[in-house]
Amino acid sequence: MLSASSRANRSWWDGNADDYQVEHGEFLRDAGFVWCPEGVDEAEAHLLGDVAGKDVLEVGCGAAQCSRWLSTRGARVVAFDISHRQLRHSQRIDLETGSRVPVLQADAESLPFGTAVFDLVCSAFGALPFVAAPARVFAEVKRVLRPGGRFVFSVSHPIRWAFPDDPGERGLTSDRSYFDRTPYAETDDEGRLAYVEHHRTMGDWIGLIVAGGLTVTSLMEPEWPEGHDRVWGGWSPLRGRHLPGTAIFTCSA
Ligand SMILES: C[S@@+](CC[C@H](N)C(=O)[O-])C[C@H]1O[C@@H](n2cnc3c(N)ncnc32)[C@H](O)[C@@H]1O
Repeated sequence: MLSASSRANRSWWDGNADDYQVEHGEFLRDAGFVWCPEGVDEAEAHLLGDVAGKDVLEVGCGAAQCSRWLSTRGARVVAFDISHRQLRHSQRIDLETGSRVPVLQADAESLPFGTAVFDLVCSAFGALPFVAAPARVFAEVKRVLRPGGRFVFSVSHPIRWAFPDDPGERGLTSDRSYFDRTPYAETDDEGRLAYVEHHRTMGDWIGLIVAGGLTVTSLMEPEWPEGHDRVWGGWSPLRGRHLPGTAIFTCSA
């Protein structure tokens, strides 16, 4: 049974997948592994290590561009997303490129996979900022990973919560508490929940990872690269010079 957050976000992503892919598809590339709006590329970052011959699961894959890149590097990939429309874009890219990525529709809080079947699990801003019960996601990831396996995921840097989601000057002045965990929620005309993001502080993330039985082995806070001027929502060169925008956690099982 889906939580209210997952239900709302599934509809929201179904309704917005087309615009998302039009806006960001070129930056993400059909077969590219971009971790975040700062442009950290797995081809250079090697956060997952050598993926050749590894069984890899991608969480909240969108159009599965990351998985498609991983398969070009010899990984055996499976990708899932809660949004059917996002997965249609993965199928569109399959048809356009002739490279097929196995995808399925699922909720990150309940993974339809056996125990200890993956060497690596990865997620680029997929699912984790949107779920109401992240502890379930970590427990599920731990379950499906083989012992010694790795989970690498990127999320909005928690400090961004304390600032307006605005790429301009306004986004440089804090207007709410970093410690306020009230979710950001949008409702439709009938007052029904239409979109939700859940905030976790840095300490919350660490606590969740540890409680899930995983060990944090590194935390990357990418700096805004010189000459990178692409704006993505609230991510911009202006804010990137002052504030971290992304946190990338590497964990081992
Ligand atoms: C910001 S997009 C990132 C997609 C992809 N990783 C990328 O970099 O383009 C977030 C994705 O998480 C998915 N998502 C949200 N909640 C989810 C959930 N509970 N389970 C699985 N996927 C979810 C959305 O459908 C969406 O495709």
